[in-house]
Amino acid sequence: MLAFSITHFLLVIPALAAPACIPSSPPAPTGAALATSTTGGVDPALVPDFGANPNPNPDGHGNCDGAVKDVTGKFILVPCDCPPPRDLFITDLSANVAAGHCINNTAVSLSFPTSSSKADQITRSQALLDTLQNLRGAGVGCPAVSTTFGVQLQQLTG
Ligand SMILES: *[C@@H]1O[C@H](CO)[C@@H](O)[C@H](O)[C@H]1NC(C)=O
Repeated sequence: MLAFSITHFLLVIPALAAPACIPSSPPAPTGAALATSTTGGVDPALVPDFGANPNPNPDGHGNCDGAVKDVTGKFILVPCDCPPPRDLFITDLSANVAAGHCINNTAVSLSFPTSSSKADQITRSQALLDTLQNLRGAGVGCPAVSTTFGVQLQQLTG
């Protein structure tokens, strides 16, 4: 299941990140080239899709359906501006990885190792969640349930 979705991201994301460039070879080298071209820039192919619900159903109070359902089968509400645009998220993630901690919450260390090992996937998943939850300040950001990142981490840690 997880292996499937990662493969899927590897195939899909580089096409989204670089629409003018159609990879003729496997996308990994393109991502690696991007990753080394900017200081600390993470490989977008290693950043999974947010998994956000495409039908946000604004409630009129600034809240929208998130990406995760509660026990009754209803989407948990999140601020409508969550998650952020993917490109902004990757920029913030890259800045945090370059710094080795959340820029907006220096007590939270993070890293973004690139192998497909389970340990590296877990570390990356934590970096995604830490970045998401400290996007605007210490502990001020988007809730984990505005994405499926938390679900993915749960699947990894089983
Ligand atoms: C830190 O917070 C500022 C102000 O909200 C925001 O503009 C910036 O993108 C954040 N940086 C990171 C790396 O989350």
